[in-house]
Amino acid sequence: MDTVAEIPELRQRVQSARQGGAVVGFVPTMGALHAGHVSLVEAARRDCDFVVVSIFVNPTQFGPNEDFEKYPRVLEQDLEKCQTAGADLVWTPTKELMYPPHFSSYVEVESLTETLEGTTRPHHFRGVTTVVTKLLLSCLPDMAYFGAKDYQQQAIVRRMCLDLNIPVEIKTCPIIRNEDGLALSSRNTYLSAEERASALSLSRALNLAEERIAAGETDLERIKTEMHALLAGTPLIKVDYATIVDSATLEEISAPQSQMVALIAAWSGATRLIDNRELSAV
Ligand code: PAJ
Repeated sequence: MDTVAEIPELRQRVQSARQGGAVVGFVPTMGALHAGHVSLVEAARRDCDFVVVSIFVNPTQFGPNEDFEKYPRVLEQDLEKCQTAGADLVWTPTKELMYPPHFSSYVEVESLTETLEGTTRPHHFRGVTTVVTKLLLSCLPDMAYFGAKDYQQQAIVRRMCLDLNIPVEIKTCPIIRNEDGLALSSRNTYLSAEERASALSLSRALNLAEERIAAGETDLERIKTEMHALLAGTPLIKVDYATIVDSATLEEISAPQSQMVALIAAWSGATRLIDNRELSAV
């Protein structure tokens, strides 16, 4: 496995792999890699001949009061994990490379970005779509791998690639969890033991939604109220949203349907966590 920083070198490596007939897979990340990220690299390894991972903590997707400065940066450990998972190339661009002086072009996706995470984090998705466009255009992979953990993000990236004719197939991989149900996240390292225990309420609330739907409950308002009550009744938890929406449009729905998703964002102490579960009407 090699690492590159500069775009011409990245392009040259990808191009020569492709000239040899390789299908190129790409996994964009912000580092602090855990088993969730590793599962994406492994999926790319299974599907593709040449696997590129990017590690870049993207400043434009963090709000002014968010954790950009304290976001964990552990490059040596990340490189080891990439190597073990079977990556061929790790691309570590610098902030100066991605955002040179006078940078003034942004990619904005409407509608899907205006709800859920977009409500609490107003410029977040503009940063994500801008950097993902730059990453995809720099790497030019055949397939790019995203986690269902960031459900809205993968929906937005799919929409963007369709709308802008970016010729990349987007693959969405399942959420990887700890045994106790907590969805893996680089931000879990911020949690104290008490906050981590409380954070389990997110997956419990999703279990509850799944159980109610499986039992034939058709009143989504009742399920959402129960999810809220479970979360709000947990110490240290402050709910941002707990809802059930259409999987494709992310719009609120009033009755169960074949493709829907329960989504939660909540604070456990000072750490904001998200989780979700796809649901299907019985
Ligand atoms: P990051 O948070 O590092 O996540 C990189 C990828 O790993 C995302 O597609 C995310 O959904 C996925 N992922 C995170 N936790 C996961 C889990 N528990 N199970 C499965 N997949 C998981 O998401 C970003 O970085 C950035 O926004 C990025 C797309 C790199 C743009 O900067």
